[in-house]
Amino acid sequence: TKPLTILGLESSCDDTAAAVLRQSGDDAPEILASIVYGQTELHAPFGGVVPEIAARAHAEKLDLSVQEALSAANLSLSEIDAIAVTSGPGLIGGVLSAVMCAKGLSAGLNIPLVGVNHLAGHALTPRLTDQVTFPYLMLLVSGGHCQFLIAHGPEKFTRLGGTIDDAPGEAFDKTARLLGLPQPGGPSVQKEAEAGDPKAHRFPRPLLDRPGCDMSFSGLKTALLRARDAIISEKGGLTIKDRADLCASFQAAVVDVLAEKTRRALEVYMAENPSEPLLAVAGGVAANSAIRARLETVCAESGAAFTAPPLALCTDNAAMIAYAGLERFKSGARDDMGLSARPRWPL
Ligand code: KG4
Ligand code: ZN
Repeated sequence: TKPLTILGLESSCDDTAAAVLRQSGDDAPEILASIVYGQTELHAPFGGVVPEIAARAHAEKLDLSVQEALSAANLSLSEIDAIAVTSGPGLIGGVLSAVMCAKGLSAGLNIPLVGVNHLAGHALTPRLTDQVTFPYLMLLVSGGHCQFLIAHGPEKFTRLGGTIDDAPGEAFDKTARLLGLPQPGGPSVQKEAEAGDPKAHRFPRPLLDRPGCDMSFSGLKTALLRARDAIISEKGGLTIKDRADLCASFQAAVVDVLAEKTRRALEVYMAENPSEPLLAVAGGVAANSAIRARLETVCAESGAAFTAPPLALCTDNAAMIAYAGLERFKSGARDDMGLSARPRWPL
């Protein structure tokens, strides 16, 4: 049979991305190209993503991303069979940019259009990278989300629990900001933490005393702020060592919470799905090596397998959107010009 070639578009937060994915029959899909234009420098002066600036930058970079993805894949537009696009959740102006672009391409080329839930893109990534089969337990942990899901099918997820306030990525970004480290905060905090003492500060591990898989991370940044200010008022500033210790202690708290809640989620999941249990992680925070290492240990102790996508497929990208679109497309789903951009869209 003729291979299926799908173009994916993503613009729901602060990355403009286009990717080309190809699948022959039921073979493992191949990522022919994956282009990501980040907007970190654009938002840096404002200390967070500014929706208006993000939307304008997406509109500016989408055509270019598509062109670059096609040229990296050595394909012309006429060789694309379908378009997949993130249609939510996310910043509405940004989501609209790619949805408009995708509708234009679909109408102009007369090829099918499929809308994709950004979270499903993350949650299905282990199927793209490791051909994982349903069901599996997913920890989706990013800048805006943190939840345990049982993945039953491409559009069927059960939520076991999640954060009741901030997402861990937000906490990493806030920590970096408080310590004067560059954005995105995750990678910079991880790097500083390597030289620090994780026991220097005892930061809170909220909700560990309560049953269930819910988590909380907002108290952590308040604790970090207090510890920082205490050091500054005592010594007049932060040394390199102080910064490293704060980062290491902060990261240790996040790791402990995720590890304990993962242990419980596995317990719940394995009671129902005892055969060949697997935990997969996804989302930007899943790029953190301390988190990955600890979750791998938790899985080994619980008797479950563990898988984590390569770093570039943990953070926002369009290959995951093309893949989630491919799954929907193969199940017969099609969208039309009525496809709308949804700021909120739980899985
Ligand atoms: O999935 P993602 O690219 O965007 C969404 O939120 O959907 O995740 C971005 C988040 C940011 O908060 C970033 O700081 C965090 O992922 N992140 C990390 C690491 N790399 C990225 N957090 C911790 N450790 C990392 N190595
Ligand atoms: Zn994301």
